[in-house]
Amino acid sequence: ATVTVDGGSGNLTADQFSLVRQGGEDPDPGDSTRYEAESSPAVCSGTIDADHAGFSGSGFCNGDNADNAYAEFTVQASAAGTATLDLRFANGSSAARPADVIVNGSTVETASLPTTGSWTGWTTQTVTVQLDAGANTIRLDPTTANGLPNIDYLDVEQASG
Ligand code: GCU
Ligand code: CA
Repeated sequence: ATVTVDGGSGNLTADQFSLVRQGGEDPDPGDSTRYEAESSPAVCSGTIDADHAGFSGSGFCNGDNADNAYAEFTVQASAAGTATLDLRFANGSSAARPADVIVNGSTVETASLPTTGSWTGWTTQTVTVQLDAGANTIRLDPTTANGLPNIDYLDVEQASG
């Protein structure tokens, strides 16, 4: 949808706009499940911090700056199949902090996790993976000694069959 708000020839002062669905089919059922990096059974090789605003939940995983300092999520799938992972992170350093995405022990891809300009600059990167039915481990394993960016959460949405 494109929504245009036009102040005409005068000025327009606005604090906030929202777009609210009134009815009808939801084109995206949004049946994703959020796994917070600070909540068990997630594992963080580092500390759970809350000093950079904008995170979801009660904090985020600040991994140690080391190439073996991972963040790991355990996610549930109702059936085997394709799932979309939205990984939310902030990378206030000046360089990318790539990480292997390891699903049930197999590396699926290396996520680039570029700089986001500041530690409060949270953004999401999407990775598509195959999950098994039941519990799956998803580990983010940094490929450089800089370690991971700060990790907020993983949203997991299974493809509808
Ligand atoms: C800073 C920042 C941390 C971040 C760290 C890093 O110390 O405050 O949140 O994790 O840099 O470079 O990894
Ligand atoms: Ca860190």
